[in-house]
Amino acid sequence: MDPVYEISGQIRQLAAGKDLSDPALAAIVSSSGQDGALACEADAARRRMYGTDVYLRGLIEISSYCRNNCYYCGLRAGNAKCLRYRLSEDEILECCDEGYNLGFRTFVLQGGEDPCQTDVFVCSVVSSIKKKYPDCAVTLSLGEKEYSSYKAFYESGADRYLLRHETADEAHYRKLHPDSMSLGRRKECLFSLKEIGYQVGSGFMVGSPYQTADNIVSDLRFLQKLSPDMIGIGPFIPHHATPFSNFNSGSAQQTVRLVSVLRLMFPYALIPATTSLATIGEKYREKALLSGANVIMPNLTPLKVRKKYELYNRKLVSSLESAQAVSELEKMLERIGYRAVSSRGDVKRG
Ligand code: 5AD
Ligand code: SF4
Repeated sequence: MDPVYEISGQIRQLAAGKDLSDPALAAIVSSSGQDGALACEADAARRRMYGTDVYLRGLIEISSYCRNNCYYCGLRAGNAKCLRYRLSEDEILECCDEGYNLGFRTFVLQGGEDPCQTDVFVCSVVSSIKKKYPDCAVTLSLGEKEYSSYKAFYESGADRYLLRHETADEAHYRKLHPDSMSLGRRKECLFSLKEIGYQVGSGFMVGSPYQTADNIVSDLRFLQKLSPDMIGIGPFIPHHATPFSNFNSGSAQQTVRLVSVLRLMFPYALIPATTSLATIGEKYREKALLSGANVIMPNLTPLKVRKKYELYNRKLVSSLESAQAVSELEKMLERIGYRAVSSRGDVKRG
């Protein structure tokens, strides 16, 4: 059979909510031939669920300390050149004040696994934000913690938690992480977060070293088991002071294609057009939005420390990435047929 015809039939199946075989998914993931059709179906699916709304999240990078040593990440403990900082509760609240005035109704507190950031601190920050801004959602992205910590954060008012699984394949996971980390533990954390009641986000890097199309199929299968509310993916981008400094970046085109596949497989999901994608090229932010993404996370981190939160080379610190540029972002969204909405933007699932 003509392979192009075969894939487009499969895209119709995906769009109709049917599952595909592993080889069929691997073929879609690897080929650019149907990108236009995929984007078109994915955009129709996002419009059915979310109309033209794009939710804005204010990202606050609260600590650049991390006890882990993921081989891909510039914040890894072994990177002695990484400039470390930790925001105080007052500094975080100032970011929220600024974000609230700009129209943000979700604050995402993201950081490395900082051993000096106590549960008491995190709980205090979360409850202060919720007290001051009860109409806002608080999302945490602070890595792997004990069940009791996740529970305490939730009871302090945290609504959502982002924890990418990074790769769902055991052998691939081992190529990206030192022995001190485990995929089993990562998955256990994700299921704990769900059980506690969080809206949960997961995701993976596209084009990380040694990744195969079959690995990506495993990622999609894992996401089907987890059924997360939010799914974040972005291209791998090398960081100069990591063991992966000499690897190539992941493909932005393949990332956009996967955004479409995710939208078709998880029509209800909140899917961001990520910073790493926009770092490869500003036009990919727009492409992702036109291909199924419905969330943007501009950066509210104080400018004086923003450059220090360097996950990968040349991470965007200005332009549309900056929360302060929200009016430009609104114009861009309008130009491509969407609108920024100032609301919590919770997941819509039936
Ligand atoms: N390239 C792209 N994404 C990266 N992350 C960490 N390092 C890199 C990199 N070099 C992503 C991981 C992590 C998120 C906060 O940033 O997926 O979960
Ligand atoms: Fe730490 Fe996360 Fe970077 Fe791994 S990816 S080193 S856990 S900040």
